[in-house]
Amino acid sequence: MQEIIALLEKAFMEKGNGKVEMPPKPGIHTMPDAFIHAMPAFIPAMHSAGIKWVSGYPENYKRGLPYITGLLVLNDVETGIPYAIMDCIWITAMTTAAASALSAKYLARPESGTIGILACGVQGRTNLEALACLFPIKRAYAYDVLPEVQEKFIADISEKFEFEIVGVKEPKQAVVESELVVTSGPILKHPTPTIERDWLQQGAYGSAVDFDSYWSGAAMAQMDRISTDDHAQFQYYKSVGYFGQTPEPYADLGELVAGLKPGRQDEKERTLAINLGLAMDDMAVAPQVYRRAKEKGLGMWLPL
Ligand SMILES: NC(=O)c1ccc[n+]([C@@H]2O[C@H](COP(=O)([O-])OP(=O)(O)OC[C@H]3O[C@@H](n4cnc5c(N)ncnc54)[C@H](O)[C@@H]3O)[C@@H](O)[C@H]2O)c1
Repeated sequence: MQEIIALLEKAFMEKGNGKVEMPPKPGIHTMPDAFIHAMPAFIPAMHSAGIKWVSGYPENYKRGLPYITGLLVLNDVETGIPYAIMDCIWITAMTTAAASALSAKYLARPESGTIGILACGVQGRTNLEALACLFPIKRAYAYDVLPEVQEKFIADISEKFEFEIVGVKEPKQAVVESELVVTSGPILKHPTPTIERDWLQQGAYGSAVDFDSYWSGAAMAQMDRISTDDHAQFQYYKSVGYFGQTPEPYADLGELVAGLKPGRQDEKERTLAINLGLAMDDMAVAPQVYRRAKEKGLGMWLPL
């Protein structure tokens, strides 16, 4: 995770300096609240070009299937020839979390030691892991609508990490107690958000992995700083009906990393990152996955 955060930081520096090619992702929608997105990106400094074809289906758990699935294709930057195809579940789980942690590096108080995870799925796990890489976590609060999912999460996290982990019955408790808050439930186009004004403490940082599904308009209006990962993509989502009550982000993560916009300015600011997930995040990491797999003799050669 440390290595992935570092790769993303390098990619966001390039993006901040205008050196990444990445059109906002188009998608198709075969079911309500579901998507299949095409996510291409080219990062010249990392010799990385490719596309992720990723789907998100909120009802998949009823069939025992993952919410997020898909494929990633890497292309040679000089010939365009596709040289690797890989599953994208792991890379999406890891890079999304690394982006939350990278935003937190600029927007959270470095001494933040308490964290609330609202929704204990794949993203809940990796976001906790990523934030624990950068912050001195002493206690985590976990909430999921499904008690058995919450219990399993607590058992797994307790095995992996030293810090205390507390299960809560109400989402409010996980928010009010925490200096870092991650919401990672289903993304809904017309949500009925849970988090109200004044729940997030002064000085705390939130990462809305599930867009505005968990955060009310009043809670977001109280933020001193809201960032995103790409302005154009944020505008695209707005144009198709998301983020009805979300204030305009003042900066994107590329601008923060490249020093073009300031991060947190004082101890009391409430900050929120709404990272939508960028093709660039995956293309920053996928060539490294390919190199490692090749070194270890993993995978198989396919005819083209
Ligand atoms: N922003 C991004 O870049 C990005 C990238 C990947 C995934 N996502 C989004 O993150 C979310 C989680 O994805 P995942 O792969 O972890 O899915 P997942 O199915 O593994 O986890 C979702 C969890 O949410 C729980 N849940 C449902 N409603 C809840 C509620 N109201 N409160 C608390 N818990 C609730 C479920 O029980 C489940 O444990 C999805 O909305 C997905 O689209 C965003």
